[in-house]
Amino acid sequence: MKTEDLKNHIASIENYPKPGIIFRDITPLMGNGEAYKFATDQLVDYARDKNVDVIVGPEARGFIIGCPMAYAMGIGFAPVRKEGKLPREVIKVTYDLEYGQDVLTIHKDAIKPGQRVLIVDDLLATGGTIEATIKLVHELGGEVVGAAFLLELVELNGRAKLGDIDTKVLLEY
Ligand code: PRP
Ligand code: ADE
Repeated sequence: MKTEDLKNHIASIENYPKPGIIFRDITPLMGNGEAYKFATDQLVDYARDKNVDVIVGPEARGFIIGCPMAYAMGIGFAPVRKEGKLPREVIKVTYDLEYGQDVLTIHKDAIKPGQRVLIVDDLLATGGTIEATIKLVHELGGEVVGAAFLLELVELNGRAKLGDIDTKVLLEY
């Protein structure tokens, strides 16, 4: 399998969830064992020489990519969740959505100061989610040593929010 072949497992749905949006659906890829494993392995290869201590991923699709990577690398995974979902002490950050704002949280003890963190999500769009996730990691004293995504919606320029953080993307749309 080649990286580009993964596009055969991404469904594109026009005008979902609203007019003008093309939704890139990763569930066919998740549903195909060979494609899911290949994509995970590609991202693990990227991360392998980074000496990562912990992977951080935002709900819900960040878990789908980040957790199998953490398992393969034998390291932990720290979930970033919407407000009210994590049961212990959290820190929070407000971030912008296309319309309005939302809040993301992480447990205070999820990252120890100085830990090397890889941020993982399925998809980079405007970069709002990832920018908020980076802020949470930095607030806990973590060092973001890389960011990995299955796919990027290039026109939305989410890369700008990543600054000089080393970034790996498997598929561009
Ligand atoms: C989607 C996607 C990314 C984010 C990308 O998540 O999984 O996390 O949007 O968009 P951005 O770069 O413009 O922030 P969503 O908020 O839809 O939540 P979900 O994963 O729970 O479906
Ligand atoms: N998250 C933000 N924009 C998206 C899109 N176009 N498709 C799938 N997930 C998204």
